[in-house]
Amino acid sequence: MSKPALTSNNLDAFWMPFTANRQFKQNPRLFVGAEGMFYKTADGRDVLDGTAGLWCCNAGHARPRITEAVQRQIAELDYAPAFQMGHPHAFELAARLSALMPSPLDHVFFTNSGSESVETALKMAIAYHRVRGEGARTRLIGRERGYHGVNFGGISVGGIVANRKMFGTLLGGVDHLPHTHDLSRNAWTRGQPESGAEYAEDLIRLIQLHDASTIAAVIVEPVAGSTGVLIPPKGYLERLKAICDQHGILLIFDEVITGFGRLGSPFAVDHFGVTPDLVTTAKGITNGVIPMGAVFCASHVHEAFMTGPEHLIEFFHGYTYSGHPVACAAALGTLDTYEEEGLLTRAAELGPYWADALHSLKGARHVIDIRNIGLIGAIELQPIAGEPTKRAFSAFLKAYEAGVLIRTTGDIIALSPPLIIEKGHIDQLVDTIRDVLESLD
Ligand SMILES: Cc1ncc(COP(=O)(O)O)c(C=O)c1O
Repeated sequence: MSKPALTSNNLDAFWMPFTANRQFKQNPRLFVGAEGMFYKTADGRDVLDGTAGLWCCNAGHARPRITEAVQRQIAELDYAPAFQMGHPHAFELAARLSALMPSPLDHVFFTNSGSESVETALKMAIAYHRVRGEGARTRLIGRERGYHGVNFGGISVGGIVANRKMFGTLLGGVDHLPHTHDLSRNAWTRGQPESGAEYAEDLIRLIQLHDASTIAAVIVEPVAGSTGVLIPPKGYLERLKAICDQHGILLIFDEVITGFGRLGSPFAVDHFGVTPDLVTTAKGITNGVIPMGAVFCASHVHEAFMTGPEHLIEFFHGYTYSGHPVACAAALGTLDTYEEEGLLTRAAELGPYWADALHSLKGARHVIDIRNIGLIGAIELQPIAGEPTKRAFSAFLKAYEAGVLIRTTGDIIALSPPLIIEKGHIDQLVDTIRDVLESLD
């Protein structure tokens, strides 16, 4: 049978990622343009971006420096082989990125996404121990409700049930810390919760169970985003770091969403004052314009690989598009934009207004918790009995109709607007959400 002709209203061929495909295709939501804080829909409406795309367009949309850098680069050097060859912008970008990170996070390995950054960091951690003669350290520790992308390593250390249960036995030798979300003690918190640092002590239990000599690394998101904004209790990350150091275990921070100004400092590393051995990033590195990710690696990890005959490859890993010239150009244009407009610290200035606006929704219909940090917010809703996620999804659809893009996960509304947001936009976002909640069953 011949296939139907490809027309603009034939939506069938594209199997959309993380989407309710059949629901979407009955009533598609299509963006055809974007500028500043707003998307433009196919039916000509402006929609306020409350989510920076997918936590990635930190400088907002259609930023001239990034557009121009990408256009110039494509015309000048479209691609250079990533293995055994290089091009100047990859080195320039790595140097500029490492200057943003505290020492010893002085080296950068390029990838194309957050998921690839996670796989890269996990492999680096296991290989690091092996090159130092501790080849038995292969075990990886993640955390319940963690999100580390969708590849096999990432879903193995991740802790979101729906992302794991369909895909077999995953990686062996993985264990999980408990998550830190505890509404009975920490509901309505602004910033870091007071209670819960003791959840880090579970790492001691896992070390007693498996022995430190079998554990390569612990990976956590400093602030868990995709699972509905779980903010680390005061003292928790510090304690994880201390236990890891004491037992020779590498600590990996997954900063795919917290990186590039989301918390009011360049990285969560600065915000929390805790420096891990490896940091995974993506998204905001290019303002979402071209796919790219990067793993920051501490000198002691990097140096461990720089041994043996110099003509040999030190780390058997990399992607055809690691450090792609166009992605590097986009990232350099992005860093220029962040620096010129002070965006890596803007969330700290706006934070109090953001927090007050969000917490004004306390008492709104269906709301059981509100929490915030930097320019991140979460509004947790009472689920409809027997129909989890339905109420929040209805809120998402209604907000879109009312001209505001929000994101929902489970029954939680998660907000992460571009860092260029103005107070008036914050008011529009919160007022729309209030009206939407009032209108929901
Ligand atoms: C913490 C974290 N890690 C990894 C990823 C995966 O990134 P990507 O979708 O670019 O593969 C995400 C995406 O949201 C994330 O939030």
